[in-house]
Amino acid sequence: MQNSRKEPLKLVRMLKLPGNPEEHRQVTFLELDDNAPFAVRRVYWIHSLSAGEVRGNHAHRSMQQLLIAVNGSFRVTLDDGKDNREFTLSSPFQALWVPAGLWRHILTLADQSTLLVLASTHFDEADYIRDYPAFLAYTNAVVPSADV
Ligand code: TYD
Repeated sequence: MQNSRKEPLKLVRMLKLPGNPEEHRQVTFLELDDNAPFAVRRVYWIHSLSAGEVRGNHAHRSMQQLLIAVNGSFRVTLDDGKDNREFTLSSPFQALWVPAGLWRHILTLADQSTLLVLASTHFDEADYIRDYPAFLAYTNAVVPSADV
């Protein structure tokens, strides 16, 4: 657990979701016990997005998420305060697992995009860090800056 708080960027995973093998009856699914890396407590969707629209720009202290582009596409940048990784979400067969403690910047790449989010906690504004300097202070407090 301590490791996951120290290096959340290393835990990030792009999951391939199962679907109906009959190609003419498209459906993708996620069996919560088998395919989700955490217990899902909340589902929400960010919709009616236009190309160029930015969402996120915050971090969560303890909430984990799975992000799924059910329609359209997104570029998701995840930042641990030192490094960052970019992911393109462009298929409903993909789910990006975002552990806690990462700043996320979500750029919408196509009009009418919809991002489905499966979250590990109920909504709690106190779990958000919405100010980037405050996020850096938080990561420096959680992550020792050097092994000395
Ligand atoms: P926020 O998570 O900041 O949106 P995004 O990351 O997509 O830009 O949420 C936007 C607003 O909606 C904010 O005021 C909090 C509120 N909100 C809820 O009340 N409940 C929820 O489950 C979510 C996701 C947001």
